[in-house]
Amino acid sequence: MLVCDCNEVSYDMVKAAVKIHGDNLEAIMEETEAGTACECCLEDGCEKVDISLPSAIKKALEELA
Ligand code: FES
Repeated sequence: MLVCDCNEVSYDMVKAAVKIHGDNLEAIMEETEAGTACECCLEDGCEKVDISLPSAIKKALEELA
């Protein structure tokens, strides 16, 4: 599942970052580089990705709970 097209960040990479940083969006962006280029993937409805970064973080938090 692709979360960030610009920097080729997968859902699994985001999930690994959530394990370390919890819901800290800025820290996850810094660690994975997701959302640091065009910023499309920061919004739900971005057509370049399967799931937006905020939604991916939410999903990972639910799965890790
Ligand atoms: S798709 Fe994530 S920064 Fe462009």
